[in-house]
Amino acid sequence: PRKIIIDTDPGQDDAVAILLALASPEDLDVLGIVAVAGNVPLALTERNARRVVELAGRPDVPVHAGAVRPLVRPPITAEHVHGRTGLDGADLPEPALPLQPQHGVDFIVETLLDAEPGTVTLCTLGPLTDVALALNRAPAIAPRIREIVMMGGAYFEVGNITPTAEFNVYVDPEAADVVMRSGVPITMLPLDVTHRALATPDRLDRFRALGNRAGATVAGMLGFSERFDKEKYAGAGAPIHDPNVVAWLLRPELYAGRRINVAVECASPLTLGMTVADYWRVTGREPNALFLREVDDAGFFDLLVERLRRLP
Ligand code: BDR
Ligand code: CA
Repeated sequence: PRKIIIDTDPGQDDAVAILLALASPEDLDVLGIVAVAGNVPLALTERNARRVVELAGRPDVPVHAGAVRPLVRPPITAEHVHGRTGLDGADLPEPALPLQPQHGVDFIVETLLDAEPGTVTLCTLGPLTDVALALNRAPAIAPRIREIVMMGGAYFEVGNITPTAEFNVYVDPEAADVVMRSGVPITMLPLDVTHRALATPDRLDRFRALGNRAGATVAGMLGFSERFDKEKYAGAGAPIHDPNVVAWLLRPELYAGRRINVAVECASPLTLGMTVADYWRVTGREPNALFLREVDDAGFFDLLVERLRRLP
């Protein structure tokens, strides 16, 4: 199985991504989870990550706390989307699993330095603060990272937090800039993909019908997200953002896109956090990312249902 570290700000859709990864041990070896400040403050995202790991019945997976705030900017949260707890709609107890004492950024650096080069993939589901801090602290990790697969950015589908920016990039654009310039192979799952993977009422019923606690929890969480997203963007249900990162690792044939250059706007007040995607290769800038644009959404939901069935 492919070794991954998940850096995340749970977040209902982050939670589903973690469940999908933990339900797929034959494909993915989750070395650890690092929580970052994002959708809600770090004190909640790290707690939520522990609740989700327990829901999956996997207390062997270590959960670390990473950055408490972006590199240079004040924190921005999204309680208007995710609720006060970040996991509204889920009915999960306080976690018994302890938080690891090691800082999440140290965990990322140490894991990469200890592993065979080219074997560890970083999956980022939130702002890129922890990965940027790790790259800045220990540049020697860059050539050792197999790939960074991120939920972030937007092209045609434009922004969800400002007219031009996607939330994860907008919250910490300087961190996203460090990552995009790092030379590490990158795959991006932007809003262009995730706004095509909608949790319609039929699909929520399929999760409910699984009959396990994970299925009921996923249906509850995605039903909560729908309250905000449905009217606003997509129309037919809430976009399921972060699980696309894990689904890409499991079934890349469900996705299509192209290798292009993506740069991050860090200065303009009007377009801060915009992912400037050179889709038609009009600059001389070398491609630095595989920018995905399409998803087989029926296949994506079949995969989710098939894998979540295995959980408690
Ligand atoms: C991203 O922002 C968060 O609200 C979601 O969890 C996802 O990672 C979508 O823009
Ligand atoms: Ca997220």
